Amino acid sequence: MKIIGTGSALPEKVVTNDMLAGFLDTSDSWITTRTGIHTRHLLSKETLGELAITAAQAAIESSGIAPEEIDYLICSNVANSYVSPSLGSILLAPLGCCCPCFDLNGACAGLIYSLDIADSFIKTGRAKNILIVAAEEPSRFCNWHERETSVLFGDGASALMVTEGEGFKDFRLTGDTHTDVLYYKRSLETTPFDRVEEKTMPLVMQGREVFKLAVRACIKDVDTVLEHNRLKGDDIDLYLLHQANLRIIDSIREHLEQPKEKFPTNLQNYGNTSSASIGILIDELSREGKLKDGMTLLLSAFGGGFVTGAALMKWSEIKYKDTANE
Ligand code: UT7
Repeated sequence: MKIIGTGSALPEKVVTNDMLAGFLDTSDSWITTRTGIHTRHLLSKETLGELAITAAQAAIESSGIAPEEIDYLICSNVANSYVSPSLGSILLAPLGCCCPCFDLNGACAGLIYSLDIADSFIKTGRAKNILIVAAEEPSRFCNWHERETSVLFGDGASALMVTEGEGFKDFRLTGDTHTDVLYYKRSLETTPFDRVEEKTMPLVMQGREVFKLAVRACIKDVDTVLEHNRLKGDDIDLYLLHQANLRIIDSIREHLEQPKEKFPTNLQNYGNTSSASIGILIDELSREGKLKDGMTLLLSAFGGGFVTGAALMKWSEIKYKDTANE
């Protein structure tokens, strides 16, 4: 499987750390020092569906695949206003697609989970062209009275078109149960048989625990993928890591003893956009012409669950209309 099209979309509204400090007991210096985040884009006028469509249309257009040639749509999403239908099925008609679809909740590792599944579908001949859309609105499940979580996240969408090819070399996915460290609970309806009223619980996170789990798990994933493919850290051209916290990325980089230039980041501008983050990074780097033919890329992400995913791939350049990479 290889990537032949990319897209991303961010909400118009840019929220700075100082704007947050206007109503939360926080500061620009705390947020930038502890996380690296300066701004994030938050949904205000647009809907998540609209963002997802913009990202998906860009991926379709750059791939040269017609919407009707898409065999499957996989939508990575943790939560949105609809529990049913799936976000994937909401996207189909506006995109002009008529194919099977499903939503996948792999938390912030959802894009890598989606890529792994797409790779299996393509290998077994179940599908040839697959559109993966990762669309997330974590701002809508944070508690905006609490400074611990709300400053970390941003909304956004990314999309990748994949098809048969020689790009992806290896995947490693893991899963484990650590519910208490990171969760968001939505209330369900009561029934005549179960009248226990559950309350919606905005995102709860034990930051330090998640930090430690994330660093440990990503290092293990990256080391395992390198070892499995008889590669050294030096053999990777770029490490595209989940954009949650600059300190998490630095800890992984220091373990690998690799230079900063190999770890491109955009969390400074967007915060943690959950499963959309790596796709937004890929789209930006690719459109800026920074992903060259034959580059070896290592993707790695972690998220609530606790789940993780890593992928090793060789990049093939994509030609975009109206960009420097044309
Ligand atoms: O996709 C997965 C999503 N989650 C993550 O990636 C989160 C992983 N964890 C982290 O990124 C970090 O743990 C945080 C950025 C969340 C927190 O950084 P930290 O260095 O682990 O800080 P801490 O939780 O140990 O808190 C240090 C202090 C505390 O005050 P005291 O107890 O020392 O007085 C907190 O109450 O910072 C305080 N604090 C804040 N201060 C200003 C916590 N949040 C804030 C805030 N502004 N926003």
